[in-house]
Amino acid sequence: MKRILLVGMCALVFWAVPSHAQRGSREIPTPTDGLKDAYKDYFMIGASVNIKNVSDADQIAMIKREFNSITAENAMKPQPTEPQKGEFNWEDADRIADFCRQNGIKLRGHTLMWHSQIGSWMYQDEKGNLLPKEEFYANMKHHIQAIVNRYKDVVYCWDVVNEAVADSPVWPGRPELRESPMYKIAGEEFIYKAFEYAHEADPDALLFYNDYNDAEPAKSQRIYNLVKRMKDAGVPVDGIGMQGHYNIYGPNMSDVDAAINLYSKVVKHIHITELDIRLNEDKGGALRFNQGSGQVTDWERILQQDQYVNLFKVLRKHKDVVDCVTFWNISDKDSWLGAANSALLFDVNYKPKRSYLAVKGFDPEADKAVIKEDFKPSELNQPGQEYPMVNSQGYARFRIYAPKATSVISSIAGGTVLHKDADGYWTGTTAAPEDEGFHYYHLTIDGGVVNDPGTNNYYGSIRWESGIEIPAHDADFYAEKNVPHGNVQQILFWSNSTDQLRKAFVYTPPQYDNGKKKYPVLYLQHGWGENEYAWWNQGRANLIMDNLIAEGKIEPFIVVMTYGMTNDVRIGELGRFNYTHFQTVLCDELVPYVDSHFRTIAKKDSRAMAGLSMGGMETHTITLARPEMFSYYGLMSGGIYLPDEIQDPKQVKGIFIGCGSKEGPERVMKAVSDLQAAGFNAQGYVSDGTAHEFLTWRRCLYQMAPMLFK
Ligand code: XIL
Repeated sequence: MKRILLVGMCALVFWAVPSHAQRGSREIPTPTDGLKDAYKDYFMIGASVNIKNVSDADQIAMIKREFNSITAENAMKPQPTEPQKGEFNWEDADRIADFCRQNGIKLRGHTLMWHSQIGSWMYQDEKGNLLPKEEFYANMKHHIQAIVNRYKDVVYCWDVVNEAVADSPVWPGRPELRESPMYKIAGEEFIYKAFEYAHEADPDALLFYNDYNDAEPAKSQRIYNLVKRMKDAGVPVDGIGMQGHYNIYGPNMSDVDAAINLYSKVVKHIHITELDIRLNEDKGGALRFNQGSGQVTDWERILQQDQYVNLFKVLRKHKDVVDCVTFWNISDKDSWLGAANSALLFDVNYKPKRSYLAVKGFDPEADKAVIKEDFKPSELNQPGQEYPMVNSQGYARFRIYAPKATSVISSIAGGTVLHKDADGYWTGTTAAPEDEGFHYYHLTIDGGVVNDPGTNNYYGSIRWESGIEIPAHDADFYAEKNVPHGNVQQILFWSNSTDQLRKAFVYTPPQYDNGKKKYPVLYLQHGWGENEYAWWNQGRANLIMDNLIAEGKIEPFIVVMTYGMTNDVRIGELGRFNYTHFQTVLCDELVPYVDSHFRTIAKKDSRAMAGLSMGGMETHTITLARPEMFSYYGLMSGGIYLPDEIQDPKQVKGIFIGCGSKEGPERVMKAVSDLQAAGFNAQGYVSDGTAHEFLTWRRCLYQMAPMLFK
């Protein structure tokens, strides 16, 4: 996820979008293969369909691409197929069966006996009195056997009995089963009979008991108990169908895992039969439910994706017993929950959503990953704070106390969802190791954005964000060491052009205070969303300088870091940003101020300008617009120079261009070789294993500094 987002300059921009804002849905191209292909080594992928779905060419193409199992959403249920005793209506069921026959798609039969969508003739007389048991059984037998016989060439399994177990809580003295009319007539035995009739009609079909709230511990125990009693009584039950009408808040995937473990003690086949994950607290099979608002906030989308991704991870783990996973409807347009619940992986236009890509693009190797429990507090934590933590593999773990919250997300890795413990703490670990180095993040609690109280804050995304540090293997070059240290001091200078008192931070090298020596100056700019604090806090520019000087790798110089006026620019309008105001502040106000207040070598050849990301773009524009000002130019994840752009080759003595290996470095390296071919002193650098983040820029500064002022 993060890897996709954090490419190029845009990374900081995406990062900065407040997580409560709705992101424009970038359209995902129509896939060439489907979920069924991605999961071919695991289980079948199915969907329930209506008649329209199998009549429209585009929808048919989508079904054939994505699914290799189908369930009739309504067409094979008791009432639609036999509304009155002996009056059968096979039209829709036949069409769906034919669709499967013609296309070689497997058909799950749903459902033979259910308290809902059933003609009341099945269990009561015209006056509403329950039928005698024998009459009810005769009705049930002729219905079940008629439909099973009719489709036995194509239906490979049946949900024989649906939703017969009682919902929680079951009060003392009440039965574990739903007190439906069927139950009232015959007790538990009607379930056994239904399976026997079905088996008699088609001994080859796999027969399932199907229910919802299937991962809720108490109900799953009752489901298990029922199926166990059936098995013990010799009833031909082969599998348990977990409907899987879940939501973004639950169930907890450890409960799903536990339920599958429990069920697999008594059956060899588990199907997820009716999967959808809605955006509110409703769940299960109730036919009255929250219709949803139609607004999918970013944090809801993250919670939903997390549920889908982690559910499929659990299901893959149980592939020996899970053999089919069926979505309830093919797209949000068709969803029984209504489009506004946005519960499926395809949108109302049958286009895949981001969660589709996440479910499909799983990494089988990552499934096997074992997280080492050697977590330690992040080095950026506030004094005495245990969390956030990082481990030796680069996983990050968060823990927050929020007893009344309903959802907590850390923005790390595109959204790491935390889960609640019994004691009100929320804990979550990144799904994969994070890149080495510094990362900004924040928490989204019930849609509200806050910082993590465990760690320090760093200015990025136009706000003070939480920071976490994944120890880098090369951290030594910016480590705090017992070497002579320079100072970072704040200066305030009056700017006539903006009619404001402005701020900058100036690093003076260790030797500066005792001597008369004059020094060259690097003007070093932050990126979009950041400010003049970034380079010497999360950037560690002063420590990098101290260490380089102590090792004798550079001649000491001064570094000036000021605010680049970039934060008024709105996302999407970066291209139109007008650099001239900052150019005036920098070249005509700050440089003269620094030259008159510090012992600088106030000459072009002793002046460099460099910047990261948007600061790189400023550097590019200003160095070219004011060739008399700077002799060394540095761009870090912030564009390139073309040889033709530089009017007079003698105007520049050195050009540095760097970026992270995850930012598409080819363009940078090509630019550098073009510059070198044109005779410029250009140096390129690619930071291994990093994206548009501060470890890239720390390393860039470390690489660039030795080439300056030579
Ligand atoms: C739903 C259908 O999707 C709706 O079109 C219909 O109006 C009601 O039934 N559990 C089940 C499914 O087993 O059969 C239900 O299907 C959803 C809940």
